[in-house]
Amino acid sequence: MKNIAVIGAGYVGLVLAACLSELGENVICVDKDKRKLEKLKKCKVHFYEQELSELIKKNMKDKKLEFSECTDYAVRKSEIIYIAVGTPSKDDGSVELKFVYDAITDIANSMNGYKIIVNKSTVPVGTGTKLKETIKKRLKERGKKYEFDVVSNPEFLREGSAVYDFMNPDRIVIGTNSERARKVIRAVYNAFDNKKVPFIFTNNESAELIKYTSNCFLAMKIAYINEIANLCEKVGANIQHVANGIGKDHRINSKYLQPGPGFGGSCFPKDNLALVRIAKEYGEEVSIVDQVIKSNEKQKLRMILKITNIMGKNLVDKKIAILGLTFKPNTSDMRESSSLVIIPKLIDCGAYIQVFDPEGIDEAKKYFNGLEHSIKYCGDEFEAVSGVDAVIILTEWEKFRNLDLELLRKNMKGQYFFDLRNVYERDQVEKCDFSYIGVGK
Ligand code: UGA
Repeated sequence: MKNIAVIGAGYVGLVLAACLSELGENVICVDKDKRKLEKLKKCKVHFYEQELSELIKKNMKDKKLEFSECTDYAVRKSEIIYIAVGTPSKDDGSVELKFVYDAITDIANSMNGYKIIVNKSTVPVGTGTKLKETIKKRLKERGKKYEFDVVSNPEFLREGSAVYDFMNPDRIVIGTNSERARKVIRAVYNAFDNKKVPFIFTNNESAELIKYTSNCFLAMKIAYINEIANLCEKVGANIQHVANGIGKDHRINSKYLQPGPGFGGSCFPKDNLALVRIAKEYGEEVSIVDQVIKSNEKQKLRMILKITNIMGKNLVDKKIAILGLTFKPNTSDMRESSSLVIIPKLIDCGAYIQVFDPEGIDEAKKYFNGLEHSIKYCGDEFEAVSGVDAVIILTEWEKFRNLDLELLRKNMKGQYFFDLRNVYERDQVEKCDFSYIGVGK
């Protein structure tokens, strides 16, 4: 059993802290946001993520997980310190590293012996080396000669299935030149040995680049299938058959081949921008990644055209129901969701919008602040479709996969059914007197 500090109680930090304590470690999770901490101390998580609250409750009760606002206390007590703070995009697409450097300075101020600092935040290549220099400098100022190592250990969990993903990783990447740190961090993940999880041992730089390359590759797959879906609509092909046809090739595989209204979330959009920036700084071009960003922006706008081509550009006096607001199902996260582009544009065209999302409504209200006169927030899908001319599925929540289509149609005025996540088959929907419009079919 090891003492571990996790700096940052955001998505990654909280899941990490809860899961490490579940694996048997003693974990102190630190955050500077007092309101967040007050909630966490009462086992309440400030966002929706299945299994997470239960895991936190259980491990707090077993005294394996505690929350604190005091980095000093956590660092002094722990040999391993994970950094899991946000690295948002700046306006120019570069990565804001302020929170990482704040954390590293706090750690260096409190070090009282050998420490392994493990970075989980997504950071530009070379950051690990710069963090080492920052610690060295601060220790020198303090007149201390403690040994330490910095390890890059990127996280690949997805929101909505974060606990499952953490506990069932495809691989674990450990980036460090220190044999001592490698052994200790490898041992943290001993619990995964029976799952035969592959370990990739490498240096900091490669580990940092693996994270970006992985996210940008997945984003590229989505952008590619979206463009092929658009072509399918022109040539009379069906994207689901095409995706199935290529996905069966093991070299391609069928994951991340679902076309839709463009990818969103706190990672893919930000990481694509960052990779372009990083390459530029080193005089290189990742033009494919650049194209993925443009293609994704276009895809969101294309969804609006899809709607206005059928319903007309003037949507005054038209009511539209939107089912799903979050960037993907099973999360309350609205960051970079395509709904943030599509809904305001429809309102610009004059439409009145009735929305329902199983977990995202409270969060959505913050983003659509000022648009209250044109948006009605509804308690369920039936209220949302009441009297509307069209319904649009924007996020594929499980709930929306099993809609009572006949009842839905009865509640609506018009017949348009825009299935922007290809949840339904055309026949199934048109049988209930709808006009079906999917993506790429
Ligand atoms: C992504 C990566 O999948 C994780 O491996 C990574 O750890 C995480 O970013 C991160 O860097 O923290 P996440 O953003 O939570 O995870 O969600 P994804 O499930 O990957 O979906 C991202 C977006 O792509 C969503 O908007 C989703 O709707 C869209 N998507 C995904 C598609 O449009 N089609 C697909 O086939 C798959």
